[in-house]
Amino acid sequence: MDILPSLGQAAPPRFDPAIWPITAHPDEEGRLCVGGVPLADIADEFHTPAYVIDENDFRNRARRYRKALRGSNGFEVVYAGKSLLTTAVARWAREEGLGVDVCSSGELAVALAGGVDPARIVMHGNAKSPDELREAVRAGVGRIVLDSCVEIAYLAGVAQRRQPVLIRVTPDIDIHGHRAVTTGISDQKFGFTLAEGQAADAAKRVLAHPILDLVGLHCHIGSQVTDPALYGEAIHRMIAAMADIRAQHGVILTELNIGGGHAIPYIPGDRELDLGELARVIEDALDEACAAEHFPRPKIVVEPGRAISGRAGVTLYRVCSVKTQSGGRTFVAVDGGMSDNPRVSLYGAQYTVALANRHPLGHKQRVTVAGRHCEAGDEIARDVELPADLRPGDLLAVACTGAYHHSMASNYNMVGRPSLVAVKDGRARAMVRRETIADLLSRDCG
Ligand SMILES: Cc1ncc(COP(=O)(O)O)c(C=O)c1O
Repeated sequence: MDILPSLGQAAPPRFDPAIWPITAHPDEEGRLCVGGVPLADIADEFHTPAYVIDENDFRNRARRYRKALRGSNGFEVVYAGKSLLTTAVARWAREEGLGVDVCSSGELAVALAGGVDPARIVMHGNAKSPDELREAVRAGVGRIVLDSCVEIAYLAGVAQRRQPVLIRVTPDIDIHGHRAVTTGISDQKFGFTLAEGQAADAAKRVLAHPILDLVGLHCHIGSQVTDPALYGEAIHRMIAAMADIRAQHGVILTELNIGGGHAIPYIPGDRELDLGELARVIEDALDEACAAEHFPRPKIVVEPGRAISGRAGVTLYRVCSVKTQSGGRTFVAVDGGMSDNPRVSLYGAQYTVALANRHPLGHKQRVTVAGRHCEAGDEIARDVELPADLRPGDLLAVACTGAYHHSMASNYNMVGRPSLVAVKDGRARAMVRRETIADLLSRDCG
């Protein structure tokens, strides 16, 4: 490349900008840098495995949402905290003008500690306890999304003042994705179905409690949705449901929360939900549906999680061993695995992996990057191309691990959870420290 610089310009970038954080680039030693920091330095300082989050990537994507939907008349972007939440992340979301959605008292506490205005918090969950509802009410959360009849009664019992609520509705839209994240069809646990009048019955129950202020409906059709037209269809069905509620109860709902689920690419060639397209589909569907039902345009709320936090994150692993089994497959074993990334075993997720500590010179070979845990299925990436001279001590970076990694990590095999390190403008700092063996023992009551 030094001899023929034009070759470098013609070659595809080593770190595909569709998949890696916006600041990812190799330095002259071939080390992958994110947020201006060589990841090898982070591995040295914070040890591995480590989650690294590019603050600028997160903030940039949050801003893109606000910009893309700015044209819409009355909209709100609420960041889905379940994808990644720490007090710093909550602060970033707040500073970028986003609300935060939470689905437990723990997430609520983190959002509040991160300075999020309670009025901008949306509380979710299909099995909220009376205590969780009480805490949400006490904190003054802006919206509680009701998911069952008993929850309506619980909330009416604990509310101190008029509490704005939404009803979660399943609009019977199949995203044809993984079963675990297909949440818009009737045959799953969330929400009230439109079919058989469950949603209309829920509205009647809510309206019977004057302390509950029914402001709108909510739906979340699933995750990794690539086709914006599905959101258009959801809007049509939800506006029709709102018109039914007006016809039956004389109430005009003013808010429609269409959830999140916007797809991001994990490996080259994966499709991404186009944000500009989504904004157009929302506008068109709203215009048509509201005109058809003679219904006033409600405020639209979207709840993206991974589309904001996913690509900001990379996970660092140290190579522990490289071996080729008699079946012919080469396994690169690393010092993390399904405890820090359960998505491979849960959803068969695929990942992009790169050598992060040096130039990847010479031949490549197809390998499986395997974890350290006691299961043959503990793999991070299968059949990925990595340098043939990969050796113990090398550093690997796995892209797109900002969402549902830190938040889904476990202590399987009594392994402490990794640190979460923020990088920005050449500086790295711990957002969450590594879990120690002392931490693990401290919960064991003997
Ligand atoms: C109600 C709700 N909103 C938003 C999201 C965020 O989904 P994603 O991270 O795929 O955007 C989820 C994910 O489970 C959800 O359940």
